Amino acid sequence: MSAAPVFTWTDRYKLGYERMDDTHRDFVEKVDALLTAGDDALLARLDDFIAHADAHFGEEKEWMQTTGFPAADCHIDEHAAVMKSVHEVRELLAGSPGPRAFAAARSLGRALVDWFPGHATYLDSALSAWMCKRVYGGKPVVFQRD
Ligand SMILES: [Fe+2]
Ligand SMILES: [Fe+2]
Repeated sequence: MSAAPVFTWTDRYKLGYERMDDTHRDFVEKVDALLTAGDDALLARLDDFIAHADAHFGEEKEWMQTTGFPAADCHIDEHAAVMKSVHEVRELLAGSPGPRAFAAARSLGRALVDWFPGHATYLDSALSAWMCKRVYGGKPVVFQRD
């Protein structure tokens, strides 16, 4: 039994570079799973998120570094700032599970929901356009349903 989703994908998040959009769908799923987990499952869901985020941010970093993307630094820094908070919460949750740690994990989940649209709009979208240009030779055409 799982709770009703609180963070769901919308085509407004679509940026046009399909591999990135697929990864972002997975991001939304992992954050939602964290937010809807019971206390006992929070650490496992957070670990799922960490595995996702390491791959997600690592992939974007690799794209930026292997293609000479001009504005990589602040993008990479923003990923690193997120992971710093994530690991702080993980340490608390693994070291002293209890109401304070559970609340911290859920507030991390909510912070990720708030963080994602801005990060996608301002940083990931530039990378998506850059990758589309390299891969398809043009800017992405994005069809959004909503
Ligand atoms: Fe991303
Ligand atoms: Fe990113």
